[in-house]
Amino acid sequence: MSEATAPTPPPDHSPWPDCEQRYVTPVTAEADAQQQAGGRAVITPYRDGPLIVRGDFDLRTQDGQVIDPGRATVALCRCGHSAVKPFCDGTHKKARFQAPG
Ligand code: FES
Repeated sequence: MSEATAPTPPPDHSPWPDCEQRYVTPVTAEADAQQQAGGRAVITPYRDGPLIVRGDFDLRTQDGQVIDPGRATVALCRCGHSAVKPFCDGTHKKARFQAPG
């Protein structure tokens, strides 16, 4: 039986190349206010892109292993095409992912 290993986030020097500028770096005033108000995580689905998670959260494998996101704000893939799942690597643009709604 093989042991599951937690996914490794992209290296710090080049995290989520396409998502870094568009999704991860900016923190909206609304999300910032919600974080400060209750300390709860805020998850924002970006149009035709990843889920951005800000705030206090744990990220785990389905086996319960902790996944170190390497940062406080992460972009989680929801298109299914990322090579670094569960993180977004920007491939949703090449795949022309369109989220419902
Ligand atoms: S949402 Fe960005 S690679 Fe899947």
